[in-house]
Amino acid sequence: MKSQISIENVSKVFGRHKALNNVSLEIKEGEIFALLGPNGAGKTTLISAICGLCRQSSGNIKVNNFDTLTHYKETRNQIGLVPQELPLDGFESVYNSCQFSRGLFGLKDSRDHIEKILKTLSLFDKRDEQIFGLSGGMKRRLLIAKALAHEPKILFLDEPTAGVDVSLRRDIWKLIEDQKKMGVTIILTTHYIEEAEQLADRVGIINSGEIILVKEKTALMSEFSKKTTFIRLSKKLKNLSFMKKNKKISLTENGMTLKLVGINNRSNELQSIVNLLSQNGIAFTEINTVDNSLEDIFLDLVETQ
Ligand SMILES: Nc1ncnc2c1ncn2[C@@H]1O[C@H](COP(=O)(O)OP(=O)(O)O)[C@@H](O)[C@H]1O
Ligand SMILES: [Mg+2]
Repeated sequence: MKSQISIENVSKVFGRHKALNNVSLEIKEGEIFALLGPNGAGKTTLISAICGLCRQSSGNIKVNNFDTLTHYKETRNQIGLVPQELPLDGFESVYNSCQFSRGLFGLKDSRDHIEKILKTLSLFDKRDEQIFGLSGGMKRRLLIAKALAHEPKILFLDEPTAGVDVSLRRDIWKLIEDQKKMGVTIILTTHYIEEAEQLADRVGIINSGEIILVKEKTALMSEFSKKTTFIRLSKKLKNLSFMKKNKKISLTENGMTLKLVGINNRSNELQSIVNLLSQNGIAFTEINTVDNSLEDIFLDLVETQ
């Protein structure tokens, strides 16, 4: 896939604070890229620099080969941004507010396009209402509608589902997937790992202004994936004195269950533990293995930095 956004050695300094530290990153055409990181990591700052809302202190950003500083108009035209905050003007109607967003980019009015977006976002019935009367969830839908009003090729969503209810979160996820099917490149920031796990083709992890890892989501999950195995015992065990000390193995549930963390299926680790149990006359009723989620991987990475 072609690289669509190219970020080269970008830093951003606020006073003495380095919000971005030498960030380099390529975003590919048509992908969903999730930028994952804790609060204050620099996600909004990076997005703002790409969208031209703030100027990086050093480094270059190109969108389809146009530099964001020297060719602001060309780059900004291609981008739709759903901001983290809710900067909405109160008295405008829902419909007019979307039409205005479209007009900002020099595009002709298109009732068809705006109505289609409002329908997808369940805002069509509210089209003539003033913004201040909308609920928080409706306002967020409107921010998305406004970002799509000029039919951007690239869509940025800055924490799109922070503080929204489950049904709106599902709608937003569906909308993101539909935009991807239409060929739109999507960059979303989130601190919900579940969101990245659900949507992303690739995941970038940012911490203290530095990109610490970029990977295909599936590769990330299989490479770092650890499994946890639970062996349910027939009788309570007091201790594990029958086996050599092993940090990966512990007793839980009052001695009724043996918990094995990070046991590798390819080696014979599990088999030898099962053998050991048999040799010591310890019967068990069930073995369950669960995959660790991207959440565990993320916490591991950020904590071990
Ligand atoms: N306008 C600003 N002035 C001063 N510091 C800022 C400004 N914007 C962001 N920061 C600081 O930069 C860091 C990154 O912030 P931000 O990009 O908003 O993080 P995130 O979006 O990942 O939560 C934080 O330490 C924040 O306090
Ligand atoms: Mg932010």
